[in-house]
Amino acid sequence: MPGKYPEDTRLLVEEGLKKYFPEVGHPEELYKAMSYSLFAGGKRFRAVLAIESAKVFGTDPEDVMPAACAVEFIHTYSLIHDDLPALDDDDLRRGKPTCHVKFGEDMAILAGDALNTEAFRLVSSEQKAIDAGRIVWVIRELATASGASGMVGGQVVDIRSEGMVVDAETLKFIHEKKTGELIKASVRAGAILANASERDLALLTDYAIYLGLAFQIVDDILDVVGDAAVLGKAVGSDVLHEKATYPALYGLEKAKEMARMMTDKAKEALSQVDGDTTVLAELADFVFDRDF
Ligand code: IPE
Ligand code: IPE
Ligand code: MG
Ligand code: MG
Ligand code: MG
Repeated sequence: MPGKYPEDTRLLVEEGLKKYFPEVGHPEELYKAMSYSLFAGGKRFRAVLAIESAKVFGTDPEDVMPAACAVEFIHTYSLIHDDLPALDDDDLRRGKPTCHVKFGEDMAILAGDALNTEAFRLVSSEQKAIDAGRIVWVIRELATASGASGMVGGQVVDIRSEGMVVDAETLKFIHEKKTGELIKASVRAGAILANASERDLALLTDYAIYLGLAFQIVDDILDVVGDAAVLGKAVGSDVLHEKATYPALYGLEKAKEMARMMTDKAKEALSQVDGDTTVLAELADFVFDRDF
């Protein structure tokens, strides 16, 4: 993977997901669909971000693992629903047939619903913190980031903008909401559980906002110039659906330049945090350089 990626942390996340996901359950068909998508691969970028944000303040990965895994549950649910025929209608995800192709639309909808709710069950039952108020705080962050004023809201404007020429502000709104919010919540959850100061939390929030925007701009770029075999998902899907994207509005070169600028701003905010933020800076570089 180009750019430095904390592979050790990613492996810890894989272990955490195995530990916290109830792999067998009844109805079997539902659990199969959920675990199929959850364990199909994926960079585990959001969970890695939560853990690395906590590590800045000396907190052990295991101490934020339920929240980190919960973010991946929510993310995987969002991908299952994003791929449905009613939304992006994609057949390939994480190098495998999408959940609805494999299990049917009905089961994909329900598997997504269940992953979303399991995320909140996991945090509320397994996550520990120095005081219970912090757990409620993290739950609120995750709910706000994924709900109507966050990811789902962004997805609504995304699909309603298909075939339209949107202005710069609307495009930024789509990207900040559909992708940026959950990335921001991942960073904040890690920092909140690690008892970060108000100042550091604000700086990390700025980092995460720029990072989230860069992440989706690069996702748009990879949909144009990426390799489906490496990405594990189809390329050209955005053009096919006439999506509002950065390459569509600004052209490839300018979009790349904007992603670079966002990455630099993310690192600038980070440099003022009181702690070792080397890995978070490397993650910002990874977002810009990645090819999947
Ligand atoms: C894909 O997210 C969807 C977006 C929000 C752009 P990722 O690129 O993190 O997908 P996985 O988890 O690695 O499969
Ligand atoms: C995905 O945006 C955003 C969410 C899943 C919330 P995209 O539709 O661009 O993601 P990909 O390209 O299908 O992974
Ligand atoms: Mg989409
Ligand atoms: Mg999509
Ligand atoms: Mg995309």
